[in-house]
Amino acid sequence: MEITNVNEYQAIAKEKLPKMVYDYYASGAEDQWTLHENQYAFSKILFRPRILIDVSKIDMSTTVLGFKISMPIMIAPTAMQKMAHPEGEYATARAASAAGTIMTLSSWATSSVEEVASTGPGIRFFQLYVYKDRNVVAQLVRRAERAGFKAIALTVDTPRLGRREADIKNRFTLPPFLALKNFEGLDLGKMDKADDSGLASYVAGQIDRTLSWKDVKWLQTITSLPILVKGVLTAEDARLSVQAGAAGIIVSNHGARQLDYVPATIMALEEVVKAAQGRVPVFLDGGVRRGTDVFKALALGASGIFIGRPVVFSLAAEGEVGVRKVLQMLRDEFELTMALSGCRSLREITRDHIVTEWDVPRIRPAPRL
Ligand SMILES: Cc1cc2nc3c(=O)[nH]c(=O)nc-3n(C[C@H](O)[C@H](O)[C@H](O)COP(=O)(O)O)c2cc1C
Repeated sequence: MEITNVNEYQAIAKEKLPKMVYDYYASGAEDQWTLHENQYAFSKILFRPRILIDVSKIDMSTTVLGFKISMPIMIAPTAMQKMAHPEGEYATARAASAAGTIMTLSSWATSSVEEVASTGPGIRFFQLYVYKDRNVVAQLVRRAERAGFKAIALTVDTPRLGRREADIKNRFTLPPFLALKNFEGLDLGKMDKADDSGLASYVAGQIDRTLSWKDVKWLQTITSLPILVKGVLTAEDARLSVQAGAAGIIVSNHGARQLDYVPATIMALEEVVKAAQGRVPVFLDGGVRRGTDVFKALALGASGIFIGRPVVFSLAAEGEVGVRKVLQMLRDEFELTMALSGCRSLREITRDHIVTEWDVPRIRPAPRL
């Protein structure tokens, strides 16, 4: 059957993938309240479209950290993509590059920074997990730099791994024929089987729980790449990110895989945007599945969005072709949303083009007593 929207890939992935792999990709933490909310919260935002504007030409292009891309839709880091498809991160890199957008490569990729770079030209960011062994981190950042990656997305919401119960039940571990390729030479590329989630044990053993704001500064001493702080949900941390020298902020709850009962990212976005005061760009990931979602995020002040699960699900279904299709469908939907709401460029998308459930007291007259 023909695929007409991004969500349809999930069911196909579920059919195709081993249960352990599908569950790892799909799951959120604990009750998965935030997982549901990430998508559902977009339905609390409606449009205030403008009419009779010449929309014969629509320009979706934008600039992220000085890099020109074709649309404000980018690829979030998701770990271990070769579990979805033999070409894994290579396929994703090629699809992103063909779409003229940015791919973020996970630290825990099953292809190394050098391997991904060898797929050809493309603007790529590298997502960083900070290991206890700082030599490992410094070495990896240097390799990413040398391989032509343009920014570091520092993940700050994972001092420990969130409790993903399906992974615990499945005794999730990386299949033995795969490796965390960025760490292979460092003897950290394999994941032992554990009595619970193998990934949770790996994180507990390797990832630095002491990570703090001073380390954001430290990172700037070992690299000249711009740093995006990934995992901000509050105004307080937005201000601290700016103070610590971040080049940008990603409003993210890690696809609802870390702390459950945090708000949907689209609900947290505006507070972060206000606190950033235009000093650094603010991006969003979490639950974006439609072009309308992209528009809503931009109307609330995001400079762009990233998608996570749609990439791994489409990769599982159709490899590179699938990821290309996901990017194309979101692009087409976003373009149509712009046209139907009377916006010809990203600059024309404003807060007045939407109304949110939390605006309602402002727009509705108070009931008569
Ligand atoms: C299977 C999977 C693996 C992920 N791996 C990483 C990772 O290695 N590093 C990271 O910073 N975020 C990781 N994330 C979080 C994503 O970068 C992103 O925040 C999230 O997927 C966005 O939500 P969405 O899946 O609803 O689009 C992962 C998410 C998923 C679903």
